[in-house]
Amino acid sequence: MSFVVAENLVKRYGSGDATVAAIDDVSFQLHAGEFVGIMGESGAGKSTLLAMLGAMNRPTSGRLWVDGIDVYALGQEQRADFRREFLGFVFQSFHLVPYLTVIENVMLPLAIVKAGRKQKRAMAEEALAQVGLVDKAHRLPNQISGGESERVAVARSIVNEPPILLADEPTGNLDTKTSREIMELLQRLNAAGMTVIMVTHSPDCAGYAQRLLRVSDGKLVEEEILVKSSASSPQLAVV
Ligand SMILES: Nc1ncnc2c1ncn2[C@@H]1O[C@H](COP(=O)(O)OP(=O)(O)OP(=O)(O)O)[C@@H](O)[C@H]1O
Ligand SMILES: [Mg+2]
Repeated sequence: MSFVVAENLVKRYGSGDATVAAIDDVSFQLHAGEFVGIMGESGAGKSTLLAMLGAMNRPTSGRLWVDGIDVYALGQEQRADFRREFLGFVFQSFHLVPYLTVIENVMLPLAIVKAGRKQKRAMAEEALAQVGLVDKAHRLPNQISGGESERVAVARSIVNEPPILLADEPTGNLDTKTSREIMELLQRLNAAGMTVIMVTHSPDCAGYAQRLLRVSDGKLVEEEILVKSSASSPQLAVV
């Protein structure tokens, strides 16, 4: 069985005649270690799909398996445990806590982990090392740049070493150079074995993915294979 199996996922919002199918019968499979881009116009259903993959948004119908686990058959608490074990999340708005330092922000997901404070600090330092921000560990969020904030958000999402990273427009607020740094960071994490699923509006960012899923009006309408000419100038090729 594939690592991720989505089977006939449907998500309807609203009730009665006003019902909208934000995701309309979507099926696909992902292997462990893939780097997948999800593209599509605004309102197409990308974030809805990502939240469903993230065990945060119960489908109206359909099923989702991750590593053989029928995710939405789990009870609420088990599903929260599943999220903590399997998933890291990065969003466009970084949601750093403004009155905690960089390292304290990175340590937040470890609150429920059974480990000593020293060990948790070491885990957070390791995550900060991966994003190249050890030297700014003791700054507050308003003392670092937007790109650095996004890297802190990535560090926070990987501090538990989850097998899957979900990113919703991780470079939406960033300039080209900083976006590239974030993409290279995601690429390194992927090369180290993490499955990365990333929603993006940017063809440049999508060029870093190995596979592209396109969502249009709630449907998965096409699947393109990406061919890269080189890492620094990714290109899209429709097959
Ligand atoms: N909680 C909700 N209640 C009702 N409708 C919703 C809700 N969340 C999303 N929708 C609707 O579902 C559709 C898909 O929304 P979604 O946020 O998944 O789009 P998106 O592809 O992520 O768009 P964008 O690129 O603008 O972020 C939209 O029509 C949206 O208005
Ligand atoms: Mg969205």
